[in-house]
Amino acid sequence: MPLVPIDPADADARADLRAFLAAADLTLAGLDSPTPRLRLWVERGATGTVVGSTGYELSADGEHALIRSVAVAPAARTRGAGSRLALHALTDAAAHGARHAWLFSRRSGPFWQKLGFSPADRDALAAALPDTRQVQLFRASGQLAREVAWSRLLADLHPTTL
Ligand SMILES: CC(C)(COP(=O)(O)OP(=O)(O)OC[C@H]1O[C@@H](n2cnc3c(N)ncnc32)[C@H](O)[C@@H]1OP(=O)(O)O)[C@@H](O)C(=O)NCCC(=O)NCCS
Repeated sequence: MPLVPIDPADADARADLRAFLAAADLTLAGLDSPTPRLRLWVERGATGTVVGSTGYELSADGEHALIRSVAVAPAARTRGAGSRLALHALTDAAAHGARHAWLFSRRSGPFWQKLGFSPADRDALAAALPDTRQVQLFRASGQLAREVAWSRLLADLHPTTL
């Protein structure tokens, strides 16, 4: 099934994604107040159920991308879907000019390391992406101090190097 972009005006699609991310225990920050810098996609199974999602939010200067909402339905995990979904977001962010990808992940570090991410300073992430919904929420709630940050450069994924 193809990856379909979430149309910010499509309340039903946003509700489907919200339920899917909640079941995967991922943040819902910003889903109800989308910005043009937030891009999200879902993949649906034969019955229309969401089976995968991915996305990112760009910094205001476009240099940095916060990868978010990468999830695979439990029954479909460990068969490569997560890597494909993550690479879709990374490649799209690079195509839109981002040079540096960042993300928060407390549980899936080894998955991200296989995709080229290294441990990063959570405060450096917050400084690079201060205007993203996730950083704003994590700052306001105090959760930032408990988060684990990861980062990678995107030079190898820029259209000119592919
Ligand atoms: C993390 C997640 C997206 C991975 O999806 P997936 O379809 O299982 O990923 P892949 O099959 O592409 O896995 C690629 C590799 O990473 C490994 N891997 C996947 N998830 C892992 C995890 N949580 N911890 C350690 N290794 C993991 C796989 O075993 C595989 O290793 P291999 O290449 O040696 O076979 C999925 O487990 C998920 O939806 N988790 C809940 C949401 C979440 O935590 N998202 C990440 C934060 S945004």
